[in-house]
Amino acid sequence: MQMNTVKTSDTTAIMPLGVDKMTRSVVIEMVRVTEAAAMASAKHQGRGDKIAVDAAAVEAMRDVLNSMDICGTVVIGEGEKDEAPMLYEGEVVGSKKGREYGPKLDIAVDPVDGTTIVAEGTENAISVIALSENGQFLKAPDAWYMQKLAMGPKFDVSKFSLDMSTAQMIQEAAQQKGTKPENIVVCVLKRPRHDVLISEIRAAGARIKLIGDGDVAGAIATCFETSGVDLLMGQGGSPEGVIAAAALKCLGGHILGRLHFNDEASKQKAVAEGLENPEKVYTTDEMAGGEVIFAATGVTNGTMLKGIHSAPGGKITHSVVMRSKTGTVRWIEAFHKDK
Ligand code: FBP
Repeated sequence: MQMNTVKTSDTTAIMPLGVDKMTRSVVIEMVRVTEAAAMASAKHQGRGDKIAVDAAAVEAMRDVLNSMDICGTVVIGEGEKDEAPMLYEGEVVGSKKGREYGPKLDIAVDPVDGTTIVAEGTENAISVIALSENGQFLKAPDAWYMQKLAMGPKFDVSKFSLDMSTAQMIQEAAQQKGTKPENIVVCVLKRPRHDVLISEIRAAGARIKLIGDGDVAGAIATCFETSGVDLLMGQGGSPEGVIAAAALKCLGGHILGRLHFNDEASKQKAVAEGLENPEKVYTTDEMAGGEVIFAATGVTNGTMLKGIHSAPGGKITHSVVMRSKTGTVRWIEAFHKDK
């Protein structure tokens, strides 16, 4: 196992500390990151300004990350350095001590998945972060889309392929679930590009749960029976695909993803930048390899998490934090006193 070192507080001696031990303590710390982002962005709920929603979450998230004893590199963030002043891809985060002695981690963030949701005051916006060891997240810039098929642990993903027709996917899901297609519910982002997909799903006999935004929460919903969602299908952001892969890996679910480019020029640019095979279908592990930690806090009410609520003297947050190595899923309700 890779070893890191940390200085003890009372001496300057260097004490070995295994990655595992540190990532364990990092698990709970990560909730503080998403809690801060969710609370900051919720202040802009219903105000119609999605830029302000995002900016508040980004700033709060970065502040907490910079107080933690980690040496984190943002690999999925707010964009490239010249287009994002904070949490840009390649930005190193962590306290001074953490950057020197802390565990080296790759960080994928979506300070708010569903900025429009928050701006409009509707449901299912979450703040999310995922961590992994160095080089284990698929490179997925914001400009790239991804065709996704996500499913919960009850399905055998090896029997699915993105080259199947929609009807075949629904048939396979129904067969594996031991039910009829009419009892399969597919979560789909409501977008004109999905009009054909939506017709195909309905023609195959299945039902649809349309979401306006937030396909990370949509993918995660497949892992919870109470959501009533079996599959997530369609194209969404590629960073959200990778972040969803981290969550699904912890929950025993699966995602298949194929990058999608809006035009040939963007595809060629990606190839020139090092993308070997733009047609490749990535599995959960190929998107989020190694040991993964995932944390999310609800911004607005959703199927999985309640949103930020006021309580006398403060705010209440609802979060979930999970770790792929152990499969532990912790639900955390916290009260935060007004400052
Ligand atoms: P933002 O919060 O960044 O606006 O993303 C919301 C989202 O709905 C994602 O969950 C999804 O992957 C993506 O947008 C879809 O992109 P588009 O809105 O361009 O179809």
